[in-house]
Amino acid sequence: MDNDGDPEARPFQVLRSTWQPVALSRDLKAGGIISYRLLDEDIVVARMPSGLAAYKDGCPHRGARFGLGKVVGDHLQCPYHGWRFDRGGQCRLIPSLGEGSAVARSAKVASYAVAERYGFVWVRLEDREACPIPAIPEFEDPAWTYVVAEPTPFGAGFRREIENYLDMSHFAFAHADTLGKAAIALIDKYQVTEYPDGFQMDAAFPALSTEGAAISKLQQAHDRVQRCHMPNVTTIRQRFHDGQERVLVHVPSPNTRTSCTVFWSIAISPGFQGPAPDQQMAFAVRVLDEDRVMCENQRPLEVPMRSEACRYVPADRLALTYRKMFAGFCAAAPAIPADSAPAAGCAHPSGAGAAISG
Ligand code: FES
Ligand SMILES: [Fe+2]
Repeated sequence: MDNDGDPEARPFQVLRSTWQPVALSRDLKAGGIISYRLLDEDIVVARMPSGLAAYKDGCPHRGARFGLGKVVGDHLQCPYHGWRFDRGGQCRLIPSLGEGSAVARSAKVASYAVAERYGFVWVRLEDREACPIPAIPEFEDPAWTYVVAEPTPFGAGFRREIENYLDMSHFAFAHADTLGKAAIALIDKYQVTEYPDGFQMDAAFPALSTEGAAISKLQQAHDRVQRCHMPNVTTIRQRFHDGQERVLVHVPSPNTRTSCTVFWSIAISPGFQGPAPDQQMAFAVRVLDEDRVMCENQRPLEVPMRSEACRYVPADRLALTYRKMFAGFCAAAPAIPADSAPAAGCAHPSGAGAAISG
């Protein structure tokens, strides 16, 4: 049976086939293990000598969490009774059986695809890959300065965060203390182009000036390109009139239906005349916190897949474009049986010994 009939469940089913960031590369040191809740599933990622490995968090023996375990060679060792699992999730050692004893193939934990790019560790929960991690060349160009932010938890659904990031008509109000009280509230026409993998908005962006206050570089007029890659990667490219640029990315990685963690970073073009990278990051942190407060104070906490009882205006066009394209992305994905997710069940549910003796 599948539960595609519940439209609010569909996004998490579909996103299991997409790459989602779960940690920063710099936070996952050699031999380290991090825990994360991705799409309502507890997972762990370990850095082993031969590479990263990602698992469902829950030992198939008696359900211990792996976050307290340790990496031993290329194995993940459970903290409770020391079972060791290889990178594919197969148990290779059960200490209580004695070194060298055969281990049943059913002593196995679900493992997941894991990758590293842009300073993020990405996990995909299903074998099927719906779409690759989008290419953002500036993040891998050594001539650019690339700054990775601390991931930011939001107590709101991931689609609230995306729609906020795409929205420009809130600047004068939600960001009055950062971007400027005179930030333009009237949103002029902008061009939206749809692609098979998302959409792009191009607009000339006015200076965000507050009367009597000096305009910083980051508030100057610029050409703005906002590119959304389905299902939840959005970049903003700012090209200032002196030719200097910044590229920012936001990826709200879903934890639960009403919470996400925003992974984000900034790439700054060579010779950028403006605030130093750490100052740019500090400013962006303040702006994002203002966004967080707005997202956490919208109701419902996630944008419904069904139509919402709201009154829209032309300035909401980008958010509505996202809704339309995300609905199409979900509709185009194959049906996923509700019971297809690998479970961390016991390796020997019908009695000790039989399933683990090999
Ligand atoms: S619960 Fe993991 S080894 Fe026993
Ligand atoms: Fe904002």
